[in-house]
Amino acid sequence: MSKKPVKSPKKEVQTTGHSWDGIEEYNNPLPRWWLWTFYICVIWGVGYSVLYPAWPLINGATPGLLGHSTRADVAADIARFEAANAPIVEKLVSTELTEIANDPELINYTRNAGAAVFRTWCVQCHGSGAAGNPGGYPNLLDNDWLWGGDVETIHTTITHGIRNTDDPDARYSAMPAFGRDELLEPAQIAQVVQHVRAISGQEHDAALAADGAVVFEENCASCHMEDGTGDRTQGAPNLTDAIWLYGGDVATLTETVTNARFGVMPNWGGEFGRLTEAEVRAVALYVHSLGGGE
Ligand code: HEC
Ligand code: HEC
Repeated sequence: MSKKPVKSPKKEVQTTGHSWDGIEEYNNPLPRWWLWTFYICVIWGVGYSVLYPAWPLINGATPGLLGHSTRADVAADIARFEAANAPIVEKLVSTELTEIANDPELINYTRNAGAAVFRTWCVQCHGSGAAGNPGGYPNLLDNDWLWGGDVETIHTTITHGIRNTDDPDARYSAMPAFGRDELLEPAQIAQVVQHVRAISGQEHDAALAADGAVVFEENCASCHMEDGTGDRTQGAPNLTDAIWLYGGDVATLTETVTNARFGVMPNWGGEFGRLTEAEVRAVALYVHSLGGGE
């Protein structure tokens, strides 16, 4: 038996009866499913704007009957997170600084929390890898320390900062501007610069450097020590290594001796800083763990 294809009878399309210059309008109603979807959307939309924050106002928006707020959600998340961390934060703050490294749980916590603090507050000056930046921002990965590299010293440096005016306990020292304040003649500066080049193992003019050694002993040794290895109690850098805050070329050294430098770091902890004691401790332990910690 073969089936004959059934042809659907052609539908008579009705017109709306409107006619403009003989052009008539078909009466094609919207499909049922489309209409229902549309009505449901309208009802859902009205319901949503009554229950949730919706319509913008001059200050803020209509709050909605449910009182939902994403801001409050975030605050609740943070509160939950802080509550979960409270015991370890409490332990971090109450443990002796030098003992923290012996506690695996604390050291693990400070690695993560300290790295997060560092990424937020320290990278713009010390670089994302803590390797420092030219212009006086020291590398924190090496064991060449201006002020000292044991946990307690690092903690103090971070808490109060360096040469800032916001914390009376900030570390402070100032190298004289030997040229600007006419403490040394330009010729003497040229000599002492060659001496610094000599003690840092760089190419130098031996005759100038010999005279420079005398200038150095009289003017610089009180801070940088006679052998030029620096003094941490004054944050006076070691000049004999190849590690420079500002630079070891003749032009930069001449600028440093002529006008001096005044590297400033903000205070982060204590009464005046913006970080909590737990955050300062975490980042101090983190910096200490980077490789140069003593
Ligand atoms: C605005 C720039 C700036 C920011 C931000 C900054 N530092 Fe510093 N930091 C400096 C400067 C400049 C020095 C060197 C000052 C000097 O010449 O003694 C320094 C020095 C240090 C030292 C001492 C290094 C040594 O050799 O003794 C430590 C430790 C340190 N910073 C840690 C931090 C940490 C941790 C943060 C983030 C919480 C931070 N710094 C944020 C500018 C900054
Ligand atoms: C009162 C103490 C003091 C005296 C005296 C002093 N300095 Fe300094 N010097 C410092 C301090 C502190 C710094 C670090 C400054 C900073 O980071 O802002 C410094 C930095 C330097 C630097 C920069 C090192 C680098 O890594 O870029 C050079 C070079 C230097 N001193 C050479 C000299 C010479 C040469 C003399 C003598 C003519 C001298 N200083 C005398 C305290 C002193």
